[in-house]
Amino acid sequence: MNVMAEVMVPWIQEQEKKGKDLKDAKWSTRFHIMPPVGWLNDPNGLCYYNGDYHFFFQYAPFDAKGGLKFWGHMKSKDMLHWTYEGVPLFPDSPYDCHGVYSGSAFTEDGQMELFYTGNVKLDGDYDYVLDGREANVIYTASQDGIHFTAKKCLLTSADYPEDYTRHVRDPKVFRENGRYYMLLGGRKKNDAGAALLYESADKMHWTLKEEFQTADTFGYMWECPDLFSLDENKVLSVSPQGLAREAFKNQNVYQSGYFLLKDGKTPSADMFVEWDMGFDFYAPQTFLDEKGRRILVGWAGLPDVEAEYQNPTVALGWQHVLTTPRELSVRNGRVVQTPVEEVAALRKKEISVECGKETEISGGCFDLELTVFSDAPMCITLEKECVIGYQNGVFTLEFQPGADTDIGCGRKARRARIEHLREVRILSDESLLEIYVNGGETVFTTRYYPDGSNRSIRVEADGTGKIFELAL
Ligand code: FRU
Repeated sequence: MNVMAEVMVPWIQEQEKKGKDLKDAKWSTRFHIMPPVGWLNDPNGLCYYNGDYHFFFQYAPFDAKGGLKFWGHMKSKDMLHWTYEGVPLFPDSPYDCHGVYSGSAFTEDGQMELFYTGNVKLDGDYDYVLDGREANVIYTASQDGIHFTAKKCLLTSADYPEDYTRHVRDPKVFRENGRYYMLLGGRKKNDAGAALLYESADKMHWTLKEEFQTADTFGYMWECPDLFSLDENKVLSVSPQGLAREAFKNQNVYQSGYFLLKDGKTPSADMFVEWDMGFDFYAPQTFLDEKGRRILVGWAGLPDVEAEYQNPTVALGWQHVLTTPRELSVRNGRVVQTPVEEVAALRKKEISVECGKETEISGGCFDLELTVFSDAPMCITLEKECVIGYQNGVFTLEFQPGADTDIGCGRKARRARIEHLREVRILSDESLLEIYVNGGETVFTTRYYPDGSNRSIRVEADGTGKIFELAL
């Protein structure tokens, strides 16, 4: 441990004591990762290593509204029961002194290797886009996920192409055909978002191989890129910033979605499909687990939303969670997302849905499955204020502000066009809702904040369904 870490560990541990009662508190998630205290954003370093799932996350323990970024570390056998393993990465070197930003894990030869962005802000009269910061690719390795080797800076801002600003970050490292690749997201000087693919034979020396960019500018910045094979397809996932908000797409301040690349060819803007249509989803990352599953995890939150949304958990000293890990597959030219099968182990009491009647669920965790028989209007109401509906080809997640207590915190509606409705699955974990439509072809993720500890659910549909109460 270096001197900085020696100072920081007790300081963080002291801070985390403030979160000791959060485990069973109102709105705390039971099987989704939330921070021990303070702020969480992107999932980082997702991997399966030595018999455990390791999920790291962007962590600012000292302020529920964000701040200097560390990596927090969670470990699990089943991606449902998590143990907190502490903070392995601190902003303690000249390459990352203003934040240990996002990155990925790569496991090989009995090692867990991490590649992340070291954020450095320069002091002086700079333009923070063009020259006021450095974004370094940093490497460190571990045998146990807790003790890491000395950090090595592999790439620095001077190494990126001339036409890029200082916003280049979030390395995703993977291996294909015996070579190593690293994908970085960036903002070009002409304000176009793009991604850079580097290649290496040894993971230490990297050469630029390819650039991914749309013919027409598609946002000014692409964050958290990912590139992976799925069945016969290549999927390029990015989190673009700067897309115009519209009624049925790009409804949030920033987006995240994917291009299904045909023969590895350049993506075009019209190929972009959003991963999620809800209020809270950003910066997802995928990994391949030991069963060969491609699993996606997102941040159930968004940056820069303060003007439109205040998260009430801030008053309790924490903010944000990660989504359910979702297994990916391709169906009819679309990537579908299904909650990992492990979730089924949480199913306890089964209740049949009686359409038109109120069902009372004990606790805030449930898994609802509804099969519909026709395109007739469908409506699921939770706690009277969260209305999930389908009518005339439009699927809507809607909060009714002021109805009683405003469980959506002032947020109104998110919509998606869906030609035929066949199935709806809703996973609820206290203050997190994930709505999987038609087997995960479309997903809506949102936080919500009901007052009581139980949930009332009313379903109106030409269909049949059941609700499982969930418990760890
Ligand atoms: C995305 C992001 C990343 C960055 C990290 C910093 O939410 O902005 O691009 O590495 O968060 O916390």
